[in-house]
Amino acid sequence: MTSRTGAPWWRDAVIYQIYPRSFADGNGDGVGDLAGICARLGHVAGLGVDAVWISPFYPSPQADAGYDVSDYRDIDPLFGTLADADALIAEAHRLGLRLIVDLVPNHTSDQHVWFQAALAAAPGSRERERYMFRDGRGPDGAEPPNDWRSTFGGSAWQRVADGQWYLHLFAPEQPDLNWLNPEVRAEFVSILRFWLDRGADGFRVDVANALFKDPALPDLGEDAAHVLEPTKRIDHPFWDRDEVLEVYEEWHRVLAGYEGERMLVAEAWVANPERLARYVSAGRFQSAFNFDFLRCPWRADLLHEVIDACIEADAAVGAPPTWVLSNHDVVRHVSRYGLPQPTKGQLSTRVDATAGPPDLLLGRRRARAAVLLMLALPGGAYVYQGEELGLEEVEDLPDAVLQDPVWKRSGHTQRGRDGCRVPLPWGGAETPFEFGPAGSTPWLPQPPHWAGLTVEAQSGDDASMLALYREALRRRREHPALGDGTIRWLDAPEDILAFARDPGFACFVNVGAEAVPLPESARVVLSSLPLDDPRLLPGDSAVWLDVRP
Ligand code: NOJ
Repeated sequence: MTSRTGAPWWRDAVIYQIYPRSFADGNGDGVGDLAGICARLGHVAGLGVDAVWISPFYPSPQADAGYDVSDYRDIDPLFGTLADADALIAEAHRLGLRLIVDLVPNHTSDQHVWFQAALAAAPGSRERERYMFRDGRGPDGAEPPNDWRSTFGGSAWQRVADGQWYLHLFAPEQPDLNWLNPEVRAEFVSILRFWLDRGADGFRVDVANALFKDPALPDLGEDAAHVLEPTKRIDHPFWDRDEVLEVYEEWHRVLAGYEGERMLVAEAWVANPERLARYVSAGRFQSAFNFDFLRCPWRADLLHEVIDACIEADAAVGAPPTWVLSNHDVVRHVSRYGLPQPTKGQLSTRVDATAGPPDLLLGRRRARAAVLLMLALPGGAYVYQGEELGLEEVEDLPDAVLQDPVWKRSGHTQRGRDGCRVPLPWGGAETPFEFGPAGSTPWLPQPPHWAGLTVEAQSGDDASMLALYREALRRRREHPALGDGTIRWLDAPEDILAFARDPGFACFVNVGAEAVPLPESARVVLSSLPLDDPRLLPGDSAVWLDVRP
């Protein structure tokens, strides 16, 4: 399983994100599980990716779909057992896939033994010191300790029975740990070893930029309202503080003690590519998601800028760039690209809901071009389950089924992230589309028209999104110019992104609506759409070209 170039495998790996509750349901309870993943892993291996990252599978009250962990060394009965996890790791390795575990170090569940012990203990106790407990403000301490807001809405502080408050940057069921406490640090090193010893090939680190908080807990003032936007403040009291980097240096050393090129990937929504590059400089993370690419509208000038900025910042620290179009936290890119794109320079994961329902035909057309762009860029890439099927955001889920804490905490004003988490359609003509056994009811309803988007339906169809992903990934693996390396931009008209890679490869992406001529000498290797005229690149499409003389 070493990379074809002899460089570490993660420098140009394509990693497939599995969201366990929505991938495949082995026992028919409507929620995906590890047995389901094991049974369907052949689909992922058949796509031609290098690894899977599995979103949290630990015991959890599921207040935030598993990102509220109550025991880091076990599996939630909803998903299976530790033996199932061992079997899954073995099956992944048998199929030639590496397996990345999702680690959640910023907060635990409120049901974690540590937090339960903290609630039972007195203010100032060792148990409370593992979390961020503080006295409140005001004469009787009835006001929260400061004005920080939770990412999911409302105050970031919750009061407990004896009057103290604890910090939760996410839901109240997700109390923040105190990373200044050496006991917390030691515990996470031990958790890393637990999974490394079981064969995990690495970790995706949840909100890697959050762990440390300014102990003075200063008010944020106006900035408090913008907690969801990557901060532009370099001295922010909880996002992207310098102290956090040292923790990852320690983790890097722990992983380096194991054989087999284990890796860490950071989920860090930070101010700019230079700040992100700090996470991937030598001796820290191996890679970090480049969310600016995900947040970039379908516009040639901005895409060019964002790609350049990421490549440059990573190159300065010797790290490979890492591209991503979708994940379980954002509106699926088929839907994002199907809406009118902002014309002014702006990056955003939010889509303008008032812009009406997305044009899904246009969204899929652009998504096909986008994946050829992403897979032609240097470095690694992530594929979120279902994007290989061209799934769209499900925007008409009934209120009663919504589970994302955002829905409740926003006072039912924001629907949250359930629309990108709807269970996958595998086969058959009606729900559950073989997500689970016939007759079972998926935890979120699948749209009836997904009958045409199942893995089964797309498998025999050369024009399908699935066929495009399989073909692009196969060619990416085989082509000596693709994967790790550099790009050279080519002169091109306004709406075109065009770059070359050595030896003999070029990628042209037409982000505009009008067809444009391709270079005369070029031979088309792969195109996102059938080309009526091989010298003409249609609007919203992309091609890979062989440009060897
Ligand atoms: C980022 C995860 O991707 C998201 O799903 C989760 O809600 C937050 N971190 C909190 O853990």
